Amino acid sequence: MDDDNESKPIPSRRRFLSGAAGLSGAALVGGAARAENLKNLPPNVPEWTRALGDGVAVRPYGHPSKYEANVIRRDVSWLTASKESSVSFTPLHALDGIITPSGLCFERHHSGIAEIDPEDYRLIIHGLVDKPLIYTLADLKRFPRVNRIYVLECAANSGMEWRGAQLNGCQYTHGMVHCVEYTGVPLRVLLAEAGVKGSAKWLLAEGADAAAMSRSIPLEKALDDCLVATHMNGEMLRPEQGYPARLVVPGWEGNVWVKWLRRLKLGDEPWFAREETSKYTDLMADGRARRFTYVMDAKSVITSPSPQAPVRAKGFTVISGLAWSGRGKVKRVDVSLDGGRNWREARIDGLVLDKACVRFYAETDWNGEELLLQSRAIDETGYVQPTKTELRKIRGANSVYHNNGIQTWLVKRDGEVENVEVS
Ligand code: MTE
Ligand code: CO
Repeated sequence: MDDDNESKPIPSRRRFLSGAAGLSGAALVGGAARAENLKNLPPNVPEWTRALGDGVAVRPYGHPSKYEANVIRRDVSWLTASKESSVSFTPLHALDGIITPSGLCFERHHSGIAEIDPEDYRLIIHGLVDKPLIYTLADLKRFPRVNRIYVLECAANSGMEWRGAQLNGCQYTHGMVHCVEYTGVPLRVLLAEAGVKGSAKWLLAEGADAAAMSRSIPLEKALDDCLVATHMNGEMLRPEQGYPARLVVPGWEGNVWVKWLRRLKLGDEPWFAREETSKYTDLMADGRARRFTYVMDAKSVITSPSPQAPVRAKGFTVISGLAWSGRGKVKRVDVSLDGGRNWREARIDGLVLDKACVRFYAETDWNGEELLLQSRAIDETGYVQPTKTELRKIRGANSVYHNNGIQTWLVKRDGEVENVEVS
Protein backbone atom coordinates (compact mmCIF):
# COMPACT_ATOMS: atom_id res chain seq x y z
CA MET A 1 0.00 0.00 0.00
CA ASP A 2 1.31 3.46 -0.89
CA ASP A 3 1.92 5.55 2.14
CA ASP A 4 3.61 8.67 0.93
CA ASN A 5 1.73 11.00 3.26
CA GLU A 6 1.38 13.37 0.37
CA SER A 7 0.33 16.74 1.73
CA LYS A 8 -1.33 19.17 -0.60
CA PRO A 9 -0.56 22.77 0.36
CA ILE A 10 -3.37 24.62 2.10
CA PRO A 11 -4.51 27.44 -0.19
CA SER A 12 -3.41 30.88 0.85
CA ARG A 13 -5.70 33.01 3.00
CA ARG A 14 -6.26 35.36 0.09
CA ARG A 15 -7.34 32.58 -2.16
CA PHE A 16 -9.62 31.22 0.56
CA LEU A 17 -11.33 34.56 1.12
CA SER A 18 -11.94 35.21 -2.55
CA GLY A 19 -13.33 31.68 -2.85
CA ALA A 20 -15.68 32.31 0.07
CA ALA A 21 -16.96 35.56 -1.40
CA GLY A 22 -17.60 33.80 -4.70
CA LEU A 23 -19.57 31.10 -2.93
CA SER A 24 -21.90 33.37 -0.95
CA GLY A 25 -22.43 35.49 -4.06
CA ALA A 26 -23.52 32.41 -5.95
CA ALA A 27 -25.78 31.27 -3.11
CA LEU A 28 -27.62 34.58 -3.10
CA VAL A 29 -28.68 34.88 -6.68
CA GLY A 30 -31.06 31.88 -6.67
CA GLY A 31 -34.70 33.00 -6.87
CA ALA A 32 -37.00 35.61 -5.40
CA ALA A 33 -36.67 34.41 -1.82
CA ARG A 34 -32.95 34.84 -2.05
CA ALA A 35 -33.36 38.30 -3.53
CA GLU A 36 -35.65 39.18 -0.62
CA ASN A 37 -32.97 38.01 1.78
CA LEU A 38 -30.58 40.55 0.31
CA LYS A 39 -32.60 43.21 2.10
CA ASN A 40 -31.43 41.71 5.37
CA LEU A 41 -27.75 41.70 4.54
CA PRO A 42 -25.14 44.37 5.12
CA PRO A 43 -25.08 47.25 4.57
CA ASN A 44 -28.87 47.12 5.21
CA VAL A 45 -30.38 46.84 8.70
CA PRO A 46 -32.01 43.38 8.95
CA GLU A 47 -35.42 42.69 10.48
CA TRP A 48 -33.91 40.95 13.49
CA THR A 49 -32.08 44.12 14.39
CA ARG A 50 -35.23 46.30 14.29
CA ALA A 51 -37.30 44.62 17.01
CA LEU A 52 -36.84 43.07 20.43
CA GLY A 53 -36.50 39.30 20.52
CA ASP A 54 -37.86 36.72 22.97
CA GLY A 55 -37.00 37.44 26.59
CA VAL A 56 -35.25 35.12 28.99
CA ALA A 57 -37.01 31.91 30.03
CA VAL A 58 -39.49 32.21 27.16
CA ARG A 59 -37.66 29.06 26.11
CA PRO A 60 -37.23 27.37 29.51
CA TYR A 61 -35.45 24.40 27.98
CA GLY A 62 -33.26 25.49 25.05
CA HIS A 63 -33.56 24.06 21.60
CA PRO A 64 -31.70 24.56 18.31
CA SER A 65 -32.44 27.33 15.81
CA LYS A 66 -35.49 26.69 13.63
CA TYR A 67 -33.11 26.79 10.68
CA GLU A 68 -31.52 23.57 11.97
CA ALA A 69 -34.81 21.64 11.89
CA ASN A 70 -33.31 19.13 9.48
CA VAL A 71 -30.65 18.04 11.92
CA ILE A 72 -32.53 15.21 13.60
CA ARG A 73 -32.34 11.51 14.36
CA ARG A 74 -33.81 9.52 11.52
CA ASP A 75 -34.80 5.89 11.08
CA VAL A 76 -35.05 3.65 8.01
CA SER A 77 -38.67 2.57 7.78
CA TRP A 78 -38.08 -0.76 6.00
CA LEU A 79 -35.32 -1.86 8.35
CA THR A 80 -37.44 -3.07 11.27
CA ALA A 81 -40.99 -4.35 11.66
CA SER A 82 -41.86 -2.04 14.55
CA LYS A 83 -40.72 1.26 16.05
CA GLU A 84 -40.36 -0.33 19.49
CA SER A 85 -37.71 -2.82 18.42
CA SER A 86 -35.76 -0.51 16.17
CA VAL A 87 -33.02 2.02 15.77
CA SER A 88 -32.65 5.70 14.93
CA PHE A 89 -29.41 7.18 13.62
CA THR A 90 -27.23 10.10 14.74
CA PRO A 91 -27.00 12.87 12.06
CA LEU A 92 -23.21 12.69 11.96
CA HIS A 93 -23.02 14.64 8.70
CA ALA A 94 -24.31 17.79 10.40
CA LEU A 95 -22.22 17.68 13.59
CA ASP A 96 -18.72 18.79 14.52
CA GLY A 97 -16.37 18.29 17.45
CA ILE A 98 -16.60 15.01 19.38
CA ILE A 99 -19.56 15.44 21.75
CA THR A 100 -22.93 14.26 20.47
CA PRO A 101 -25.77 16.54 21.60
CA SER A 102 -28.02 14.51 23.92
CA GLY A 103 -31.13 14.97 21.78
CA LEU A 104 -29.34 13.66 18.69
CA CYS A 105 -27.81 10.48 20.14
CA PHE A 106 -28.98 7.46 18.14
CA GLU A 107 -31.45 5.20 19.99
CA ARG A 108 -31.54 1.44 19.94
CA HIS A 109 -34.35 -0.23 21.84
CA HIS A 110 -35.45 -3.84 21.86
CA SER A 111 -38.88 -3.03 23.29
CA GLY A 112 -39.29 0.71 23.41
CA ILE A 113 -38.36 3.30 26.01
CA ALA A 114 -39.02 2.39 29.65
CA GLU A 115 -40.35 5.46 31.49
CA ILE A 116 -39.07 4.95 35.01
CA ASP A 117 -40.22 7.00 38.01
CA PRO A 118 -36.94 7.82 39.80
CA GLU A 119 -38.64 7.39 43.20
CA ASP A 120 -39.49 3.79 42.31
CA TYR A 121 -36.17 2.95 40.70
CA ARG A 122 -34.25 0.04 42.27
CA LEU A 123 -30.97 -1.69 41.39
CA ILE A 124 -30.45 -5.13 42.88
CA ILE A 125 -27.02 -6.80 43.24
CA HIS A 126 -27.19 -10.50 44.09
CA GLY A 127 -25.85 -13.97 43.22
CA LEU A 128 -22.29 -14.78 44.32
CA VAL A 129 -21.98 -11.90 46.80
CA ASP A 130 -21.57 -11.77 50.57
CA LYS A 131 -24.46 -9.38 51.05
CA PRO A 132 -27.21 -8.95 48.42
CA LEU A 133 -28.17 -5.28 48.11
CA ILE A 134 -30.91 -3.12 46.69
CA TYR A 135 -30.00 0.47 45.86
CA THR A 136 -32.40 3.35 45.33
CA LEU A 137 -31.41 6.19 43.00
CA ALA A 138 -30.74 8.35 46.06
CA ASP A 139 -28.37 5.63 47.33
CA LEU A 140 -26.47 5.64 44.02
CA LYS A 141 -26.09 9.40 44.15
CA ARG A 142 -24.38 9.18 47.56
CA PHE A 143 -21.39 7.28 46.15
CA PRO A 144 -18.25 9.08 44.95
CA ARG A 145 -18.65 9.67 41.23
CA VAL A 146 -16.45 10.25 38.18
CA ASN A 147 -16.80 11.99 34.80
CA ARG A 148 -15.69 10.24 31.60
CA ILE A 149 -16.18 10.85 27.87
CA TYR A 150 -16.74 7.61 25.95
CA VAL A 151 -17.89 6.48 22.53
CA LEU A 152 -20.76 3.99 22.30
CA GLU A 153 -21.06 2.08 19.03
CA CYS A 154 -23.75 -0.51 18.33
CA ALA A 155 -22.20 -3.75 17.07
CA ALA A 156 -24.67 -3.53 14.16
CA ASN A 157 -23.35 -0.13 13.01
CA SER A 158 -22.54 -0.42 9.26
CA GLY A 159 -24.11 -3.90 9.37
CA MET A 160 -26.14 -3.25 6.21
CA GLU A 161 -22.93 -2.57 4.28
CA TRP A 162 -21.38 -6.06 4.57
CA ARG A 163 -22.33 -7.11 1.05
CA GLY A 164 -21.60 -3.78 -0.62
CA ALA A 165 -22.55 -0.11 -0.54
CA GLN A 166 -26.20 0.24 0.52
CA LEU A 167 -27.33 3.39 2.26
CA ASN A 168 -26.64 6.87 1.00
CA GLY A 169 -25.56 8.87 4.02
CA CYS A 170 -23.12 8.53 6.90
CA GLN A 171 -26.12 9.03 9.21
CA TYR A 172 -27.33 5.61 8.06
CA THR A 173 -24.04 3.83 7.37
CA HIS A 174 -22.26 4.99 10.54
CA GLY A 175 -24.85 6.74 12.72
CA MET A 176 -25.22 4.05 15.39
CA VAL A 177 -22.52 5.80 17.34
CA HIS A 178 -22.43 8.59 19.91
CA CYS A 179 -19.84 10.11 22.20
CA VAL A 180 -20.93 11.88 25.38
CA GLU A 181 -19.72 12.69 28.87
CA TYR A 182 -21.05 10.35 31.54
CA THR A 183 -21.21 10.95 35.26
CA GLY A 184 -21.46 7.79 37.28
CA VAL A 185 -20.26 5.51 40.03
CA PRO A 186 -17.49 3.02 39.18
CA LEU A 187 -19.16 -0.40 39.05
CA ARG A 188 -16.35 -1.87 41.15
CA VAL A 189 -17.32 0.45 44.03
CA LEU A 190 -20.94 -0.79 44.01
CA LEU A 191 -19.82 -4.41 43.74
CA ALA A 192 -17.33 -4.02 46.60
CA GLU A 193 -20.19 -2.85 48.81
CA ALA A 194 -21.96 -6.18 48.18
CA GLY A 195 -18.70 -8.17 48.49
CA VAL A 196 -17.96 -10.28 45.42
CA LYS A 197 -17.28 -13.94 46.30
CA GLY A 198 -14.01 -15.51 45.08
CA SER A 199 -15.92 -17.99 42.91
CA ALA A 200 -17.60 -15.22 40.86
CA LYS A 201 -16.33 -14.90 37.30
CA TRP A 202 -19.21 -13.27 35.41
CA LEU A 203 -21.79 -10.56 35.86
CA LEU A 204 -25.29 -10.50 34.40
CA ALA A 205 -26.62 -7.01 33.68
CA GLU A 206 -30.37 -6.76 33.12
CA GLY A 207 -32.55 -3.85 32.02
CA ALA A 208 -35.98 -2.86 33.32
CA ASP A 209 -37.53 -2.48 29.85
CA ALA A 210 -40.14 -4.92 28.56
CA ALA A 211 -37.36 -6.94 26.87
CA ALA A 212 -35.53 -7.18 30.22
CA MET A 213 -32.53 -7.07 27.95
CA SER A 214 -29.60 -8.84 29.58
CA ARG A 215 -25.95 -9.56 28.85
CA SER A 216 -23.11 -11.47 30.52
CA ILE A 217 -19.96 -9.49 31.24
CA PRO A 218 -16.66 -11.00 32.46
CA LEU A 219 -15.93 -9.90 36.05
CA GLU A 220 -12.50 -8.60 35.00
CA LYS A 221 -14.15 -5.96 32.78
CA ALA A 222 -16.80 -5.15 35.40
CA LEU A 223 -14.05 -4.40 37.92
CA ASP A 224 -11.97 -2.44 35.41
CA ASP A 225 -13.54 0.71 33.89
CA CYS A 226 -17.34 0.16 33.87
CA LEU A 227 -19.65 2.78 35.36
CA VAL A 228 -23.24 2.91 36.51
CA ALA A 229 -24.04 6.29 34.97
CA THR A 230 -26.86 8.58 35.99
CA HIS A 231 -25.90 11.68 33.96
CA MET A 232 -24.96 12.38 30.38
CA ASN A 233 -23.61 15.71 29.12
CA GLY A 234 -24.18 17.19 32.55
CA GLU A 235 -27.88 16.45 32.99
CA MET A 236 -29.74 13.32 34.02
CA LEU A 237 -29.76 10.61 31.35
CA ARG A 238 -32.49 11.00 28.75
CA PRO A 239 -35.23 8.33 28.91
CA GLU A 240 -34.01 7.07 25.51
CA GLN A 241 -30.56 6.52 26.94
CA GLY A 242 -31.65 4.60 30.04
CA TYR A 243 -32.96 7.09 32.62
CA PRO A 244 -32.26 6.99 35.49
CA ALA A 245 -29.24 4.64 35.29
CA ARG A 246 -27.36 2.75 32.60
CA LEU A 247 -24.27 0.62 32.43
CA VAL A 248 -21.25 2.16 30.69
CA VAL A 249 -18.88 -0.48 29.30
CA PRO A 250 -16.07 1.51 27.63
CA GLY A 251 -14.82 0.23 24.28
CA TRP A 252 -17.32 -2.64 24.13
CA GLU A 253 -20.27 -3.10 21.78
CA GLY A 254 -23.27 -0.94 22.62
CA ASN A 255 -25.45 -3.94 23.36
CA VAL A 256 -23.74 -4.58 26.71
CA TRP A 257 -24.34 -0.99 27.87
CA VAL A 258 -27.59 -2.05 29.52
CA LYS A 259 -30.09 0.79 29.86
CA TRP A 260 -32.68 1.19 32.65
CA LEU A 261 -30.31 -1.03 34.65
CA ARG A 262 -32.22 -2.97 37.30
CA ARG A 263 -30.24 -6.13 38.13
CA LEU A 264 -26.63 -7.20 38.49
CA LYS A 265 -26.11 -10.87 39.27
CA LEU A 266 -22.73 -12.45 39.94
CA GLY A 267 -22.14 -15.99 38.72
CA ASP A 268 -19.39 -18.40 37.73
CA GLU A 269 -20.30 -18.74 34.04
CA PRO A 270 -22.04 -16.69 31.32
CA TRP A 271 -25.85 -16.87 31.06
CA PHE A 272 -25.98 -17.35 27.27
CA ALA A 273 -28.79 -14.82 27.00
CA ARG A 274 -30.65 -14.23 23.74
CA GLU A 275 -28.49 -11.23 22.88
CA GLU A 276 -25.28 -13.28 23.10
CA THR A 277 -26.41 -16.44 21.29
CA SER A 278 -29.10 -15.88 18.67
CA LYS A 279 -27.99 -12.24 18.25
CA TYR A 280 -24.69 -10.33 18.54
CA THR A 281 -22.67 -13.32 17.29
CA ASP A 282 -20.85 -13.36 13.95
CA LEU A 283 -21.61 -16.15 11.49
CA MET A 284 -18.41 -17.31 9.77
CA ALA A 285 -18.05 -18.92 6.33
CA ASP A 286 -17.74 -22.43 7.87
CA GLY A 287 -21.11 -22.10 9.61
CA ARG A 288 -19.67 -21.55 13.07
CA ALA A 289 -20.16 -18.28 14.92
CA ARG A 290 -17.81 -15.98 16.82
CA ARG A 291 -19.31 -15.34 20.26
CA PHE A 292 -18.74 -12.78 23.02
CA THR A 293 -17.06 -10.43 20.55
CA TYR A 294 -17.25 -7.44 22.82
CA VAL A 295 -14.50 -5.05 21.74
CA MET A 296 -15.18 -2.48 19.01
CA ASP A 297 -12.10 -2.22 16.82
CA ALA A 298 -10.76 1.05 15.43
CA LYS A 299 -13.00 2.73 12.88
CA SER A 300 -13.45 6.09 11.19
CA VAL A 301 -15.73 7.84 8.75
CA ILE A 302 -15.63 11.08 6.82
CA THR A 303 -18.76 12.91 7.89
CA SER A 304 -18.35 15.83 5.50
CA PRO A 305 -18.32 15.75 2.54
CA SER A 306 -20.73 12.81 2.50
CA PRO A 307 -23.99 12.05 0.67
CA GLN A 308 -26.05 14.27 2.99
CA ALA A 309 -23.34 16.96 3.02
CA PRO A 310 -22.33 17.50 -0.62
CA VAL A 311 -19.60 19.89 -1.75
CA ARG A 312 -21.09 23.27 -2.65
CA ALA A 313 -18.16 25.00 -4.34
CA LYS A 314 -14.78 24.39 -5.90
CA GLY A 315 -11.69 25.57 -4.07
CA PHE A 316 -10.85 25.34 -0.40
CA THR A 317 -12.72 22.38 1.08
CA VAL A 318 -12.60 21.04 4.61
CA ILE A 319 -12.79 17.26 4.81
CA SER A 320 -13.80 16.21 8.31
CA GLY A 321 -14.73 13.10 10.20
CA LEU A 322 -14.74 11.02 13.35
CA ALA A 323 -12.48 8.18 14.44
CA TRP A 324 -12.57 5.96 17.52
CA SER A 325 -11.21 2.73 18.97
CA GLY A 326 -12.51 0.41 21.65
CA ARG A 327 -8.92 -0.54 22.48
CA GLY A 328 -7.66 2.86 23.64
CA LYS A 329 -6.68 6.15 22.06
CA VAL A 330 -6.72 6.89 18.34
CA LYS A 331 -3.11 7.57 17.39
CA ARG A 332 -3.47 8.70 13.79
CA VAL A 333 -6.06 9.13 11.07
CA ASP A 334 -5.15 9.03 7.38
CA VAL A 335 -7.25 10.38 4.55
CA SER A 336 -7.16 9.34 0.89
CA LEU A 337 -8.67 11.28 -2.01
CA ASP A 338 -8.11 8.50 -4.55
CA GLY A 339 -9.72 5.40 -3.10
CA GLY A 340 -6.78 4.30 -0.94
CA ARG A 341 -3.89 4.60 -3.41
CA ASN A 342 -2.30 7.56 -1.66
CA TRP A 343 -2.75 8.52 1.99
CA ARG A 344 -1.95 11.62 3.96
CA GLU A 345 -2.15 12.21 7.68
CA ALA A 346 -5.22 14.11 8.83
CA ARG A 347 -5.09 16.75 11.55
CA ILE A 348 -6.74 15.65 14.78
CA ASP A 349 -8.15 18.66 16.62
CA GLY A 350 -9.51 18.64 20.15
CA LEU A 351 -9.39 16.02 22.88
CA VAL A 352 -7.74 12.64 22.28
CA LEU A 353 -9.18 10.35 24.94
CA ASP A 354 -9.25 6.66 25.72
CA LYS A 355 -12.15 4.89 23.95
CA ALA A 356 -13.69 8.14 22.76
CA CYS A 357 -14.14 9.84 19.40
CA VAL A 358 -11.52 12.14 17.92
CA ARG A 359 -12.38 14.79 15.34
CA PHE A 360 -10.10 14.95 12.30
CA TYR A 361 -9.71 17.41 9.44
CA ALA A 362 -7.92 17.35 6.08
CA GLU A 363 -8.18 20.49 4.02
CA THR A 364 -7.90 20.34 0.25
CA ASP A 365 -8.22 22.53 -2.81
CA TRP A 366 -10.94 20.83 -4.86
CA ASN A 367 -10.63 21.42 -8.59
CA GLY A 368 -13.91 19.75 -9.51
CA GLU A 369 -12.44 16.36 -10.39
CA GLU A 370 -13.99 13.17 -9.02
CA LEU A 371 -12.65 12.08 -5.64
CA LEU A 372 -12.84 8.74 -3.85
CA LEU A 373 -12.70 9.84 -0.23
CA GLN A 374 -11.60 7.40 2.46
CA SER A 375 -10.32 7.59 6.01
CA ARG A 376 -8.56 5.01 8.13
CA ALA A 377 -7.94 5.04 11.87
CA ILE A 378 -4.85 3.68 13.58
CA ASP A 379 -5.02 3.20 17.34
CA GLU A 380 -2.37 3.18 20.04
CA THR A 381 -2.09 -0.63 19.88
CA GLY A 382 -0.90 -0.25 16.26
CA TYR A 383 -4.16 -1.70 14.86
CA VAL A 384 -4.97 -0.29 11.41
CA GLN A 385 -8.61 -0.05 10.25
CA PRO A 386 -8.95 -2.67 7.47
CA THR A 387 -10.45 -2.34 4.01
CA LYS A 388 -13.80 -4.07 3.50
CA THR A 389 -12.06 -6.60 1.23
CA GLU A 390 -9.55 -7.44 3.98
CA LEU A 391 -12.37 -7.76 6.49
CA ARG A 392 -14.41 -10.10 4.28
CA LYS A 393 -11.34 -12.30 3.74
CA ILE A 394 -11.25 -13.02 7.45
CA ARG A 395 -14.93 -12.87 8.35
CA GLY A 396 -16.78 -13.93 5.19
CA ALA A 397 -19.84 -12.19 3.78
CA ASN A 398 -22.50 -13.40 6.23
CA SER A 399 -21.77 -11.07 9.11
CA VAL A 400 -23.92 -8.24 10.37
CA TYR A 401 -21.95 -7.07 13.38
CA HIS A 402 -18.50 -5.51 13.80
CA ASN A 403 -18.10 -4.03 10.33
CA ASN A 404 -15.25 -1.53 10.78
CA GLY A 405 -14.12 -1.58 7.14
CA ILE A 406 -12.95 1.57 5.39
CA GLN A 407 -15.82 3.61 3.90
CA THR A 408 -15.58 5.20 0.43
CA TRP A 409 -17.48 8.29 -0.72
CA LEU A 410 -17.47 9.21 -4.39
CA VAL A 411 -17.47 12.99 -4.84
CA LYS A 412 -18.85 13.64 -8.31
CA ARG A 413 -18.05 16.57 -10.55
CA ASP A 414 -21.25 18.35 -9.52
CA GLY A 415 -20.30 18.04 -5.84
CA GLU A 416 -22.90 15.39 -5.04
CA VAL A 417 -21.56 12.48 -2.98
CA GLU A 418 -22.41 8.80 -3.24
CA ASN A 419 -21.75 5.71 -1.12
CA VAL A 420 -19.57 3.38 -3.21
CA GLU A 421 -17.12 0.56 -2.68
CA VAL A 422 -13.72 0.13 -4.28
CA SER A 423 -11.90 -3.19 -4.24
N1 MTE B 1 -30.55 -1.87 27.20
C1 MTE B 1 -31.83 -2.26 27.33
N2 MTE B 1 -32.31 -2.43 28.57
N3 MTE B 1 -32.64 -2.46 26.27
C2 MTE B 1 -32.15 -2.30 24.99
O1 MTE B 1 -32.91 -2.49 24.03
N4 MTE B 1 -30.20 -1.79 23.57
C3 MTE B 1 -28.75 -1.99 23.54
C4 MTE B 1 -28.07 -1.15 24.63
N5 MTE B 1 -28.74 -1.30 25.88
C5 MTE B 1 -30.80 -1.92 24.81
C6 MTE B 1 -30.02 -1.69 25.97
C7 MTE B 1 -28.13 -1.69 22.27
S1 MTE B 1 -28.20 -2.89 21.07
C8 MTE B 1 -27.38 -0.57 22.09
S2 MTE B 1 -26.51 -0.32 20.65
C9 MTE B 1 -27.33 0.51 23.09
O2 MTE B 1 -28.10 0.20 24.24
C10 MTE B 1 -27.85 1.79 22.47
O3 MTE B 1 -27.75 2.84 23.38
P1 MTE B 1 -28.51 4.21 23.07
O4 MTE B 1 -29.94 3.91 22.78
O5 MTE B 1 -28.25 5.06 24.24
O6 MTE B 1 -27.84 4.78 21.83
CO1 CO C 1 -26.73 -2.20 19.57
